[in-house]
Order: sequence, then structure tokens, then C-alpha cells
Amino acid sequence: MSAQLIDGRFLAQSIKDALAQQIAKLPQQPRLDIVLVGHDEASEIYVRNKIKAADQIGLKTVLHLFDETVSEEELLQAIEAMNNDKMVNGIIVQLPLPANLDMHRIINKIDPCKDVDGFHPYNTGMLQNNQNPYFIAATPLGIMQLIKTVCPNLSGKNVVIIGASLIVGRPLATLLLNQECTVTITHIHTKNIKELTRRADIVVAACGVANLVKADWIKDGAILIDVGINRLQGKICGDIDFADVQDIASAITPVPGGVGPMTIAILLQNTVTAYNLQNKSEK
Ligand code: GUN
Repeated sequence: MSAQLIDGRFLAQSIKDALAQQIAKLPQQPRLDIVLVGHDEASEIYVRNKIKAADQIGLKTVLHLFDETVSEEELLQAIEAMNNDKMVNGIIVQLPLPANLDMHRIINKIDPCKDVDGFHPYNTGMLQNNQNPYFIAATPLGIMQLIKTVCPNLSGKNVVIIGASLIVGRPLATLLLNQECTVTITHIHTKNIKELTRRADIVVAACGVANLVKADWIKDGAILIDVGINRLQGKICGDIDFADVQDIASAITPVPGGVGPMTIAILLQNTVTAYNLQNKSEK
């Protein structure tokens, strides 16, 4: 039997519709400021998609473009100005940054109350402690919602995550652990990944290697979440070989149309949350 498709586009649209309704009732448009450094092609596309989605729901965006020669001090000053600007509700720095810039120093400068990417150590630390961060990173939070459409009770599930990034693998592992899953994070130095993934109820692939996960990597009925967006012979494909696994998995996210749209919808949701947090006392 063919795996059920987990439709990220549909779920993302329902989140954006609800946000549009909320925003229409606010006295002011929530505002997201986006910092983009250099000319990474994928980053330019992601940022364009974020701005387009924000426009569609009535959320204001301001794009701060910097040349790759920008100094760390200049970026820190720009973020400081956004932190202090009452009109700015959310701030994101599109990653990756050019290698000469210290990503952590720059992210750590963002006011945690405006850190709608959830990357600031305050927010990652609170998540790690199973407390309430202001914000949780959009991709892992979106993935949790996608998994829950096909598996509402995660308690006791074996999950293998391929990739240990700040943006996906690490926060996702914490979210799953907080939901009583047994989580294994694998990475480039993991030996015999296949033996681990074969035992998993849920496999999340977030490593950026086109079609890495094949049929013999997964067990019958596994739920598969594909975070990869790779270009192979002119076509977009994920980290999971969709055609190879579709008759073995019970459910799978497509690429495109799975995790990607959810990331954007949750980022916008986080920005509306930021607006509400910052305007709470004035109500
Ligand atoms: N690069 C890839 N994904 C993301 C994301 O979710 N946020 C930011 N800021 N950069 C990214």
C-alpha cells in the first residue's frame, strides 16, 4: 500500500488563514525585520517566500540587506537598533551567514522577546529545560504539527533524526523528548545509521543529502519526515528517496509541499505572538 501524504501546504494555509483573521482585528500590523547578508541563492529564495507569505496575511516585513563584506560590529549595531525600535516585533537573521561572521555572537544580540526564530540561547535553553520559551524554532515546531496529524500520541515512540543542526535537529530532539519519545540524533560521524533508522517508528531526515534514505533504511509502517530541499538534475528532491520508500512507509511528507510551507507559517505565527507579547500591557 502506498504511504499517506502529509500535506504541509494545506496545514500551513489553515494556519495562515487564521493569522490573517487575527491580524485584521489588530490596531496595527505586526512587523518582522529580516536580516539577509550576502547573496546565497537558497537564502534569497527562502527570504522572498517569507516576505510573500507575510504580505498575503497582512503582516509587515522590512528587509535589511547587507553585503558579505559587512563587519560583525555593523550587524550588531543594526540588531541593537531593531531591538530598541518599538515598531519591530520580530527579528530574524537568515542563515547561513558568511563564514567570517560569528553566527552565535550575532544571534545572541537579538532580544529574546523578538527572537521569532527561537535561536537565542534563552529560548533554546528554556526549551531544553522543558519550560516555556518565548519562541520555538519554526521548522521543528512545524514538524511536530505534521507528525501529530498522523500520530497524535507520541509517548514511547522511537524517533531517529538525521542531522544535528541548531535550526532543526537539536530543537526537534528536545520537542520530541518533551513528548516522551525516545530520540536518537545521528550526524555525519554516526556509524551504521541504517541500523538505527530501521528500528525507528518515525524518521526525520534533515541532512541536506539528496535521496539519502532508501527503502532498506526504514521499517514497515514508519512515518517519514523530509526536511531536505536539494536540487538534483534540475529537479527539487528531499533527503528521502520518495519513490523508493513510498510502499513501505505509512505516511510521508512530500518535497516540495511538506515541511517548507509549515516553516513559513510558524514563523509568521511566532511574529504575531511577538506582537501580542509586546502589546499585552497596553490593552
Ligand atoms: N536557514 C534555513 N532555515 C532557516 C530558518 O528557519 N531561519 C533562519 N533564520 N535561517 C534559516
